[in-house]
Amino acid sequence: MTATGTAAPLLLLDTVTKRYPGGRPALDGVSLAVTPGRTTGLVGESGSGKSTLARLALGLLAPDAGTVRFAGQDPYRLRGPSAAAVRARLQFVPQNPRGSLNPGLRAGSAVAFALAVHGTPRRQRAEAVAGLFRQVGLEPGLARRYPRELSGGQLQRVAIARALATGPELVVCDEPTSALDPGSQAQVLDLLAELRQRTGVGYLFISHDLAVVRQLADRVSVLRHGRVVEEGPVADLWSAPAHPYTRALLAAADDRAPG
Ligand SMILES: Nc1ncnc2c1ncn2[C@@H]1O[C@H](COP(=O)(O)OP(=O)(O)O)[C@@H](O)[C@H]1O
Ligand SMILES: [Mg+2]
Repeated sequence: MTATGTAAPLLLLDTVTKRYPGGRPALDGVSLAVTPGRTTGLVGESGSGKSTLARLALGLLAPDAGTVRFAGQDPYRLRGPSAAAVRARLQFVPQNPRGSLNPGLRAGSAVAFALAVHGTPRRQRAEAVAGLFRQVGLEPGLARRYPRELSGGQLQRVAIARALATGPELVVCDEPTSALDPGSQAQVLDLLAELRQRTGVGYLFISHDLAVVRQLADRVSVLRHGRVVEEGPVADLWSAPAHPYTRALLAAADDRAPG
């Protein structure tokens, strides 16, 4: 299995630039690809442009220059009946599940809502929710709980279940473990790896921590001040980082490693 593979990329950003009003470009000529079933990691310190790239990939923002394509289509310009079908194939797991789940909605209802949007008939939804809860390692009875009654790790599993509800081919994970304690962090990373194995889903996996990205990604892009300073197979970057900034990220990761 080659790192880039022979398959056409599922997600492709080609020399994308994005500037928010008043600032320097948050992204400046960035290119990145995710092949089907593979994981591309994106690492960089806070403010380097990672979440901006996530929003562009998801079609929540339009680039100022360059192109974004998901399954050959511009995710920002999806219109008409095919839009929902394409969106179902492209999902999102956020950094903070507590902020992304409606506090007034039971956990199961949040997942059921995603199923409803996807067109799952009402009579099949409760069973589908229970199945998704089991898939992410949650006891289905927890579907009746409100977000405030669940731990951070459980909430992130609910967010993953909701993302999986539409049978996506790509899930954009923006720092999905950064808000979790180390124990839950490891469990959620294991879960994402297991789901990839089982469903063939691909990830754009974003983190400020190269040690975390390394656990899941096949290839990784290092983002600094809105530019990719290094890109390659994650094992190469880890063992022989070419750019001084990657070496600094690596040193930071080593500092946190136990022992
Ligand atoms: N909505 C916004 N309006 C103006 N500036 C923003 C906005 N979102 C992000 N930025 C700026 O863009 C840069 C990149 O931010 P972001 O993509 O959130 O980086 P990261 O996710 O790596 O922390 C930062 O300088 C940030 O302050
Ligand atoms: Mg961010």
